[in-house]
Amino acid sequence: MKAVQVYLLLYVFLMTNVLVNTFFGGITDKLRWIFKSQESCDSDWISFNATGLQADLKGKLFGQHIASDIILKAVNGFMSNDNSEKPLVLSLHGLSGTGKSFVTKLIAENIYKEGMGSRFVHLFISSLHFPHSSQIDTYKSQLQQWIKGKVTDCGRSMFIFDEVDKMHPGLIDSIKPYLDYYNNVDGVSYRKAIFIFLNNDGTQRITETALNFWREGRDREEIEFKDLETSLSTSAFTNKQSGFLHSSLIEQSMIDYFIPFLPLEYTHVVQCVMAQMKAIGLKPDQNEAYKLARDLQYFPKFERVFSVKAFDPTVIFEGLWEIFGPFLRDILGALFNGGSGNVPTHSPEKCDFDWISFRAAGLQGDLKSKLFGQHVALPIILKAVNGFMSNDNSEKPMVLSLHGPTGTGKNFVSNMIADNIYKEGINSRFVHVFISTLHFPHVHQIDTYKSQLQ
Ligand SMILES: *[C@@H]1O[C@H](CO)[C@@H](O)[C@H](O)[C@H]1NC(C)=O
Repeated sequence: MKAVQVYLLLYVFLMTNVLVNTFFGGITDKLRWIFKSQESCDSDWISFNATGLQADLKGKLFGQHIASDIILKAVNGFMSNDNSEKPLVLSLHGLSGTGKSFVTKLIAENIYKEGMGSRFVHLFISSLHFPHSSQIDTYKSQLQQWIKGKVTDCGRSMFIFDEVDKMHPGLIDSIKPYLDYYNNVDGVSYRKAIFIFLNNDGTQRITETALNFWREGRDREEIEFKDLETSLSTSAFTNKQSGFLHSSLIEQSMIDYFIPFLPLEYTHVVQCVMAQMKAIGLKPDQNEAYKLARDLQYFPKFERVFSVKAFDPTVIFEGLWEIFGPFLRDILGALFNGGSGNVPTHSPEKCDFDWISFRAAGLQGDLKSKLFGQHVALPIILKAVNGFMSNDNSEKPMVLSLHGPTGTGKNFVSNMIADNIYKEGINSRFVHVFISTLHFPHVHQIDTYKSQLQ
């Protein structure tokens, strides 16, 4: 297969996944309902795979030896005990991007056949589900009803609360009865349920500890849970508004395990990138991974030990497009140059009519058949590009500014425009992509960037 074909395939694969995830989540759910036997609350659909969890934690989670150990022990213990006296309650602490959501996904995948897609796994995101503090009373009763209903339906249900530091303390307290050692609450037993809280707060001391180890030249793996224990005490919460801090869950020992996530170092980011390359079917390329990891931001400012933002493997497709899009050609080039001898021999692309010619009908067709839900953007783009490309005497370059959240189609549209002007599409050597966080990450280097860009 030629590199270009592979590229296109991969590209289509990435994009369709983004689109499907974004727009058709609801429809695919319904299709699943129609075509599959329905997931039921029994061992056909729910059974814990201890070796699977262990292998996943070891092979897919990077730089988190403490979290990995505790989670394995906690989940193993809980799942192998048929007479647990209370539900399992985990509280995961760490900066965003260190792997909290990812670990949660691994746990779900090794308990539920359908993983995070299981109808017995419930995810709450504070800013999304409970945005208005004035509606706290409504949220409370809705949440209680929801949890009660779901656990009545299936005892082995999993509830994940993300951004719990942004959650109202009263709301957190409203679920307290379900976390306790009760035989049942109003006739419902919660003892088989799993509650996971994801917390971005209380992490400053975790970072300090990791940094101290690093400064003393000690191995990160030497950090033990006891070194971090105080970091997880309530006094360590930097955000005194934290809902979690003010709830009575901590005070009343409702949490079975506090689990610290260390900030990630450069090498972990490299491992992460390699794993992601593998996940989309590319041969992991260490040089490429190093290159990508180097371009991220690190802190503290001078030592640059920890990455500010490791990408989150849970948002795999969108993330990959944003991260790998401009590099795909390089990655694939490296792959094809790597000994297979399959390098396609192209005549080099030239700046002439053979390689660059606008296909108005093609663009219209693409916009109409491949871009969904953007009736406002569509005619504007079509008119703008048509007008510009059919005018041989344009007085200025065309400048478009596309606005919208990630996943709404901005990249996709840019690609369609490129596809219908350049024979090589976005791959053309006359098309240039800049991603701010990747190419211009450091504010203090603005002058260098300026002159380079010009
Ligand atoms: C458990 O996980 C292991 C490792 O991922 C896998 O090989 C095995 O097939 C899984 N077992 C079951 C019953 O799914």
